[in-house]
Amino acid sequence: MCGIVGYIGKNPALPILFSGLERLEYRGYDSFGFCVLDDGKIDFLCKEKGKISDQCHIKNSESSGSIGIAHTRWATTGIVTKENAHPHFDCNQEFFVVHNGIIENYKEIKEKLLNEGHKFSSETDTEVLAHLIEKYFDGVLEDAVKKALKEVRGTYGLAVVSPKDPNKIVVARMSSPLLIGINGDEFIIASDPSAIITRTRQIIHLDDNEVAVLTPDNFIISKQEKENDCWKIADKKIETIEWNIEEAEKGGYKHFMLKEIMQEPATIEDAIRGRLYLEKGNAKLGGLEIVEDRLRNIDNIALIGCGTAYYAAKVAEYMIEEYAGISAEPDIGSEFRYRKSSFNKNTAGIFVSQSGETADTLAALREMKEKGLLTIGVTNVVGSNQARETDAGVYTRSGPEIAVASTKAFIGQLTTFALIAVYLGRQRDMALVMGNRIIEEISRLPELAREILDTKEEIKTIANKYINYRDFWFIGRKYNYPIALEGALKLKEVSYVHAEGTAGGELKHGPLALIDENCPTIAICSSDSVYEKMISNIEEVKARNGKVIAIATKGNEDIKKIVDDVIYIPKTLEMLTPILSVIPLHLFAYYFADALGRDIDKPKNLAKSVTVE
Ligand code: AGP
Ligand code: GLU
Repeated sequence: MCGIVGYIGKNPALPILFSGLERLEYRGYDSFGFCVLDDGKIDFLCKEKGKISDQCHIKNSESSGSIGIAHTRWATTGIVTKENAHPHFDCNQEFFVVHNGIIENYKEIKEKLLNEGHKFSSETDTEVLAHLIEKYFDGVLEDAVKKALKEVRGTYGLAVVSPKDPNKIVVARMSSPLLIGINGDEFIIASDPSAIITRTRQIIHLDDNEVAVLTPDNFIISKQEKENDCWKIADKKIETIEWNIEEAEKGGYKHFMLKEIMQEPATIEDAIRGRLYLEKGNAKLGGLEIVEDRLRNIDNIALIGCGTAYYAAKVAEYMIEEYAGISAEPDIGSEFRYRKSSFNKNTAGIFVSQSGETADTLAALREMKEKGLLTIGVTNVVGSNQARETDAGVYTRSGPEIAVASTKAFIGQLTTFALIAVYLGRQRDMALVMGNRIIEEISRLPELAREILDTKEEIKTIANKYINYRDFWFIGRKYNYPIALEGALKLKEVSYVHAEGTAGGELKHGPLALIDENCPTIAICSSDSVYEKMISNIEEVKARNGKVIAIATKGNEDIKKIVDDVIYIPKTLEMLTPILSVIPLHLFAYYFADALGRDIDKPKNLAKSVTVE
């Protein structure tokens, strides 16, 4: 999720590591750390909470070592503390690891290591790697790393150094990006080109199942063969980064918003990682374990959020009511305090927020706690106020979201709510077979999301076709009604064009007065229980000469006869459709705003986290 930098060469490593982490500042992080070796000994080790820019003195610390690793943390497992910052080390501080990603089975590994007498100093998943390497070390660092990784499930980009095998850095990759920069007689490793580009543009991308050993004058990359345990030298090509620094931060995308939309399939993968309990037809939500029994008695849920997060709450209303049989009431954070709520003691509040710092949502949370009611957080930022003040919660694990317009975080929220709906349902009368069916379909969502992203050029063409319109309506029903609201918000937020969302059934109660040839409608009409009703709404619009862009289910050819343009999404369960139907709307808003030349990542008048009421 966050940042790694490593250096091995002839120069002092610390200043290079520090500058590399500074380059990664844009990604957002909560803590950081360094580890430098000199002449076979640790010559600098520090871990801090907070911002690197507040600790510039580190850059000039006494350290002559020319081998080192550094890390900026975006916490996924374990709150934000100095102890939980990376690098993590073993019992005797002989093996130092920095890691990006999530070790899915860290709890069982940690339990086994504790039983074998290992002493842990942090709450993170990462620390198990250091102790596994310690356990398997037999003189060669890379061999110990390979043995350790055989026990690990999850994602990682990692770098390891050790005074026990001092003249090398060992790196490994599974899903989390890791690059090797080649600069004559020095090598720089990083999770992001922007930390390398100031020293070299010659890079090698590590691929999954690859381990690289970097020494002062050479590097070797080996790849584990899928069918057996053997490792073969990988034949890698050296690439040249053509981007400038700013482009490198965006991973080559023109804007962070597009980069983050393209990360949406991976966001679903991270949200469900280690949480699908197929054989039990359930979701494993460790963050709810402490309130599991209290949740069994809940018979009413208030769902609170603001902006896009409120729309996630509105989708959750349908999911929880239909699949958990609990009445659910979504409310806007800023309005919640004005309600004379008739909540009984079996009411719970679920608070959803990417930042976990939205003042309106926090105000509602504190109001709910005043009433002594159970509070649950659905939060992206670990250790945020919302995460700390709720009684329990589930992290969405969407990683840093830089663009003001929330896209992948919304996908993470919806995916997390789908898991929560199954969890609550299976506490009640949802059958194993139903839970199984939903969990199985949730596991397919990343590939279905990728299918939509593969059509991004067609979506761009449609956005450009409508570029001269300045008024849009978005309509949807049931699960897609909140998606209509989200689609309208996304479009107006980044393009400054007027857009409104409404329930399809509401058109005839007023909005239809605005529909004509100058006001197109985007209709979300997936093939589901409200499809026929949506077709009626489309016909209402067409009868007023309004143009219609339909978001429809792949394979539905009939709809082409009645609308002007169609964007297809794959078929899935109705309750999961919003996770897919919103993706074309994110892309539509992005391409529309880009065609207008807007400041997409920082739209006028808006802030990424609204910490004022
Ligand atoms: C969404 O694109 C907007 N940036 C805004 O509505 C946002 O969703 C809202 O401010 C809530 O933010 P939060 O998720 O951090 O609480
Ligand atoms: N899962 C690890 C942690 O929570 C790494 C997080 C990251 O990628 O920064 O410390």
